[in-house]
Amino acid sequence: EEGLHATKYPWVHTKWSKTFDHQALRRGFQVYQEVCAACHSLQRIPYRTLVGTIMTVDEAKALAEQNEYDTDPNDEGEIEKRPGKLSDYIPSPYKNDEAARAANNGALPPDLSLMVKARHGGCDYIFSLLTGYPEEPPAGATVQEGLNFNPYFPGTGIAMARVLYDGLVEYEDETPATTSQMAKDVVEFLHWAAEPESDERKKMGWKVLALGGLLFGVSIWVKKYKWSTIK
Ligand code: HEM
Repeated sequence: EEGLHATKYPWVHTKWSKTFDHQALRRGFQVYQEVCAACHSLQRIPYRTLVGTIMTVDEAKALAEQNEYDTDPNDEGEIEKRPGKLSDYIPSPYKNDEAARAANNGALPPDLSLMVKARHGGCDYIFSLLTGYPEEPPAGATVQEGLNFNPYFPGTGIAMARVLYDGLVEYEDETPATTSQMAKDVVEFLHWAAEPESDERKKMGWKVLALGGLLFGVSIWVKKYKWSTIK
């Protein structure tokens, strides 16, 4: 069963002439860390990816060092703990899928790294999902025990409850953390996470156009010059 069709929102970062708003990405990462990371992994993102776009290299190092990772086994085969470094990946909230299901009533919170690409509707869908929980299910709707009504989720019964509420996080840039602001920021962050190279591609596109245009102009001029003696 299809969910309700998500509203199409005018995302600025998807325009071909625009890049990601780094301030929004930084806020979105904060929402991921403080809210979503309790249940969802972001397995494809090493700390180094955050450098330059979302935080400084020192901030990323400090963040990595807050977590412990296993060392490679030494000669005796012993594994020890070491603080994280830039090349490490953001840790998952659960040891494995079994532990994740056990903590979530049998449902598996999916990895969010590629979620924007994986779901029909992408950014619009995730924004609609996060902001689309009604206070009460509509009259006549049946919701299975342990599930929550959300019209945008295919089947309308979702194991994830509403997680965003006004004022849940405190943004350092003092943007008011309304439910929709947090949803917008985290969606933009998740889109960046799925395609961190997207801005580079757009910038490369401009260079290709500029250089291509120049070469085309030169070729016209050369042609005119070469053939100018022939009437
Ligand atoms: C599913 C996003 C926070 C538990 C999902 C899905 C998305 C998502 C996109 C997939 C929906 C689908 O399959 O189409 C987020 C975001 C969060 C967040 C962006 C933070 C703002 C949480 C938290 C929990 C949680 C804090 C646990 C308390 C789950 C579970 C599912 C799920 C169990 C599976 C639902 C099902 O298949 O019925 N989430 N989530 N999520 N999420 Fe979250």
